[in-house]
Amino acid sequence: MSKLIYVLNGPNLNLLGKRQPEIYGTEALSDVEQNCKSLLVDDYEIFMGQSNHEGQLIDWIHEARDKACGIVINPAAFTHTSVAILDALNAFEGPVIEVHISNVHKRESFRHHSYVSLRADGVIAGLGTEGYEAALRRIISLTRS
Ligand code: DQA
Repeated sequence: MSKLIYVLNGPNLNLLGKRQPEIYGTEALSDVEQNCKSLLVDDYEIFMGQSNHEGQLIDWIHEARDKACGIVINPAAFTHTSVAILDALNAFEGPVIEVHISNVHKRESFRHHSYVSLRADGVIAGLGTEGYEAALRRIISLTRS
């Protein structure tokens, strides 16, 4: 089985660390990538992707069908709007963990609904950027043989 895990990030997360640090913290996405890499075991690897474009995220999810054993995804605002990302994830067979840096349930009501949660095997919200590490650990424990 492939030991590659896709860690996908949606719109505006390229500004992580600079954008609303009171909500999203001061770590950049490159720090998140380093933290994730430091907990990899065995032959596991990650592909870290960020895009502000829905179609690019969908293309990566399609690519993951052949290449990855699991997906960690923070779809950002597309969480609350994108049936297309949900459909793409439904075409992926491995485990999917949805991550939100902030506790979306403590925020505006439009953030309380997630299309992606209809597919996700686990949902993490409000752990800050540590949520990515928790999600990665979960994918590894579900796919390690
Ligand atoms: C987010 C929460 C979303 O509601 C928001 O649109 C984001 C980031 C989070 O990580 O907390 O861009 O997914």
